[in-house]
Amino acid sequence: MRSFALVTFGCQMNQHDSERIEEVLGRAGLSRVDEPALADLVLLNTCSVREKAEQKLRSEVGRLGLLKRQRPELLIGVAGCVAQQEGERLARSMPQIDLVVGPDNIGELPDLLRELDGGGPPRVRTEFDLDAPRFLEAHPTDAPRSAFVTVMKGCNERCTFCIVPHTRGPERYRPAREVIDEIARLVAAGTREVTLLGQTVNSYADPEAALGPAPGAGELPWTATHPSTARADESEFAALLRAISERVPDLLRLRYTSPHPRHLTMSLIRAHQELPVLCRHVHLPVQSGSDRVLRRMLRRYDVAEYSERVARLRASVPGITLSTDIIVGFPGESRADFEQTLALVQRIGFTGTFGFKYSARPHTPAQKLADDVSEGDKSERLAELFALTDRLRRDHLTALVGSTQRVLVEGLSAQGGYTGRTEQNEIVHFGSRAQRVGQIVELTIARAFKNSLEGRESDATLSAPLPERRGARERAPSARARSLPVL
Ligand code: 5AD
Repeated sequence: MRSFALVTFGCQMNQHDSERIEEVLGRAGLSRVDEPALADLVLLNTCSVREKAEQKLRSEVGRLGLLKRQRPELLIGVAGCVAQQEGERLARSMPQIDLVVGPDNIGELPDLLRELDGGGPPRVRTEFDLDAPRFLEAHPTDAPRSAFVTVMKGCNERCTFCIVPHTRGPERYRPAREVIDEIARLVAAGTREVTLLGQTVNSYADPEAALGPAPGAGELPWTATHPSTARADESEFAALLRAISERVPDLLRLRYTSPHPRHLTMSLIRAHQELPVLCRHVHLPVQSGSDRVLRRMLRRYDVAEYSERVARLRASVPGITLSTDIIVGFPGESRADFEQTLALVQRIGFTGTFGFKYSARPHTPAQKLADDVSEGDKSERLAELFALTDRLRRDHLTALVGSTQRVLVEGLSAQGGYTGRTEQNEIVHFGSRAQRVGQIVELTIARAFKNSLEGRESDATLSAPLPERRGARERAPSARARSLPVL
């Protein structure tokens, strides 16, 4: 076997896993090709968070099955969350599949492929690494300007809608030493920005217990949170951020995703206040603005608590922007509940919102609740939510016109010119006569698009016009891919 094609669905964690898959297979002597038709092995790295994502896998396997009829030696493999969720069943229900491999078994791919070389039945490997958690080191050939670094995997929350505890297992943390080494290596190779990844990234605790308590740890100024609950919210995440900032001083920007609101503690807020490397943007999934729905979702906070934590963060870090995830049509969600969600979204003023229609998932507690909001109502609520969030976003972007922003340039945009992001996570396109990739540049914001901004070099001698092509600007691939939520 010489070549493989890799198709990735889903969140940033999956994108990151795909990069590790590519490295593992590369070391085993396989080369990546873009076209499945040219590959000896096609691997689909899947997502199962909503039913649609799972359907995508099934239709993709169907299409690849046609290729396999012409080339019976073609191997079809399924990785990621559907692989973990379905295991053997997947191989049984779709006979085109030769290989099923869970997120914790990526390192075993070369062995599994060797076994398959000799023919025989499909191989299925979906074991969690509970006893000896492994985090595959990143070894990119080209250090990306903006890189993801995993700090934890799995999830101990029990949000009733969510399949992730089932597909990714319980929380396991990567030693702080390894995280810092990986970031230092990436930065030495040219990475400018790092986004720490984890399903509840801010519940982090160092398994080697090498981090001391961070300033603010144990401070509980919340009035809406019961003190015993608040104490259980304290993690070592802020200490990890401080250690990264201290040990990798050349890192320009640090982000993380996705945090759980109950671990947005004073120590984390203090870290935001005191660490210049930490970007002034947080993606903080709220899911609903109704206490009744939040309780049924088992989110472990209410609207008052979420709002109080956000208010503290905002008071400590002026200008910080927030984005969020919202589920509409959760079982039992009434029109009044949904209106509370709209009211909360408006009150907080999120600058980015990912909205989803509730989709019942196997192995989740909410599956036992009647999925009783009609498809029509779900679609209507989602459209209403988007109308509001589009307006909030437009107002936010328009208000930035005329301001000066520091933009980390991530690459060339599809239609010429450069693309980068501000600290507050706004995407900015601009033209320049200078080579700008990887630098932080000062731009004056000239125009607001629907989801992004146009900037001009503050130094007029460098400014160049941005090529005009309607519609294309919003599709700059790096900008879109990076704005996916993490599961
Ligand atoms: N149905 C709809 N949306 C879901 N999400 C997670 N599970 C479901 C589900 N069963 C959404 C949540 C989460 C985001 C990544 O996906 O909003 O934050």
